[in-house]
Amino acid sequence: MKIIKVKNQIEGAQIGFDIFKQALENDAKVFGLATGSTPIKLYEVLRNSDLDFSNSISINLDEYLGLSGDNPQSYRYFMTQQLFNQKPFQHSYVPDGVKTDTALATKEYDQIIDKHPIDLQLLGIGHNGHIGFNEPGTSFESKTHVVDLQPSTIEANARFFEKPEDVPTQAISMGIASVMSAKHILLMAYGESKAEAISKMINGPVTEEMPASILQKHNSVTIIVDEAAANKL
Ligand code: GLP
Repeated sequence: MKIIKVKNQIEGAQIGFDIFKQALENDAKVFGLATGSTPIKLYEVLRNSDLDFSNSISINLDEYLGLSGDNPQSYRYFMTQQLFNQKPFQHSYVPDGVKTDTALATKEYDQIIDKHPIDLQLLGIGHNGHIGFNEPGTSFESKTHVVDLQPSTIEANARFFEKPEDVPTQAISMGIASVMSAKHILLMAYGESKAEAISKMINGPVTEEMPASILQKHNSVTIIVDEAAANKL
């Protein structure tokens, strides 16, 4: 794991941008993308840049179950606003949160990932060490699946909703095996609240109880952290 300590999200975004730029220059075609507050600055830098993703594919990690892409709380909507409107990809995949046949939705998403192997996967991290929406206890062998969100995750994400009761209790997420299949992984984390998870991810045992710890087994991972997120390392 390559660990890069930065002063703040602005510096982190610049380094993240350089990694995306280099990937494009090295003919990366498929970008795995993440939502949450962590990548917002990076998306700002990307959307205001002259990078061209019109021949690239993007595949997002996850989506809330029950929210359609035009719902402002959906991850599809987030991506459209943060990146795709200004920086269109040839095709952008986000799991379908409203397909009633979820078994089919998950299978189709796996087929998309198989067809478009991910060159660069961007990740944030949850307070409990989740990546995508793969909560503690998720199998390291998992592919796309439906997830029951943990109360702590619902609480952490409630800030984006009007009322905590509005936060969906389930999501559809790319699995850990799919994340691990990416050629390169870039994980970013900022703030004190991520310090514990970052420390366990890097120095703790590799265990399904700390989903991000599996990244210790990947041969090309870059971690961008600010001082606060790094303070338990
Ligand atoms: C959500 C997303 C994750 C994200 C995490 C952290 O649960 N499913 O992909 O990494 O939140 O969010 P934030 O970046 O807002 O701290």
